[in-house]
Order: sequence, then C-alpha cells, then structure tokens
Amino acid sequence: MKKLLIAFTAIALPFFSVAHAEDNPMLLKSRALAAQLPPKLLAVLKAEIEKSGPEGAIQVCKDEAPKIAGELSRESRSTIRRVSLKSRNAVRSTPDTWEQGVLEEFDRRAAAGETPATLEKGEKVGNEYRYMKALPVQAGCLACHGTVDKIKPAVKAMLEKHYPDDTATGYSEGHIRGAISVRTLL
Ligand code: HEC
Repeated sequence: MKKLLIAFTAIALPFFSVAHAEDNPMLLKSRALAAQLPPKLLAVLKAEIEKSGPEGAIQVCKDEAPKIAGELSRESRSTIRRVSLKSRNAVRSTPDTWEQGVLEEFDRRAAAGETPATLEKGEKVGNEYRYMKALPVQAGCLACHGTVDKIKPAVKAMLEKHYPDDTATGYSEGHIRGAISVRTLL
C-alpha cells in the first residue's frame, strides 16, 4: 500500500504542478489583458493606413499606441506597455532589467525552435506579478519595421522627422519585434 502511494505521488505531483501554473489567476489575467492590445492597435493602424498610407499612420501610431495602452491600464489596474530591444520610441519602450532579460530569453527560445507567437513568461517579481508576451513581425509590419531598402521614401521621411534615433527597422517576418509587458501590484 505504501509503495502504491509513493508511486501515485510521483505520477500525480508533476501533473498537479503543471495544472497549478495554468490556473494561476495572475497569469490568466495578464495573458487576457495583453491579448487585448494588438487587436485594438491593429484596428487603428489598418484604418489609418487605408486612409493615408503607412506614412500617414506613423503620427497616429505615435499618439494612439500610448493612449490605448493607457486606457487598458486604467481599466485593469495593471500597467501595460510595449517594450523592445531595438526601440523606435526609446522613452516609452526601453525595457527595464527584468524585461530585457525576458526579451533576450524569447530570442533564445525562438532560435531554439519555439514558435514566436506562443512565447510568454509570467512570474512574481518582488511585490508585483510581471508578464510578457512576444510580438512577432508579420507581413503588415514591414512597411514601417522592415529592411531599410524596402521602406518607402515617404515613410522614411516621417520616421526621420518623428524618430531621429529610430533603431526599429531591419526586421523580417517571424522576427520578434518586441513584447507586451504587463505589471500588476500584488
Ligand atoms: C504605419 C507604420 C507602422 C506599422 C505598419 C507598424 N508599426 Fe510598430 N511602430 C510604429 C511607430 C511609429 C512606433 C512608435 C510608437 C511610439 O511612439 O510609441 C512603433 C512602435 C512599435 C513597438 C514599440 C517598441 C518601439 O520600438 O518603440 C512595437 C513592439 C511595434 N511597433 C511592433 C509592431 C508590430 C508587431 C507591427 C505589425 C503587426 C507593427 N509594429 C506595425 C509604426 C508602425
């Protein structure tokens, strides 16, 4: 009987610890919150690109991206923003030490074969729960984040005007452009 119990515990423990990670309410909340940002941003971006091309959408992206992230933050009592190892808007998007480590981890995991779109990480750090979700480059991103030879002169001109220190070009589809970062006070 004792042997049986030990065997059961050995099988059941890893199972329960996996289930526990998935049930973590902070992980689920952060994941759900992060999932709201891209569709909201893309809707604005798409509408503006249709109206006035990618060059016209740059100003909108600059004004609307932080507004949308700010609204989501206020509604949720978490702080949500985008970060990148190669930022366009360094004031808003420069990662802190934890975010930098996770972005580097995402790049390593993608290089090792994990699908960029599924990369996420959540953990308790001090008195906060922190979460990040990778943002892979899709075809539609290349107009403004692709290799320099493929970016239209009008887009280049707008980027130079608004972001003289831009480092967020040179990407190809599937690269990790950055991540959504969510932090919640516990
Ligand atoms: C119309 C041009 C345009 C397109 C298309 C575009 N972006 Fe951007 N992106 C920008 C601009 C402008 C900023 C800087 C926004 C700011 O000032 O906060 C930016 C910033 C970002 C940031 C924040 C980090 C940083 O560099 O400051 C991420 C992450 C990002 N873009 C990812 C994407 C992804 C992923 C796509 C495709 C799904 C995409 N972008 C498509 C123009 C664009």
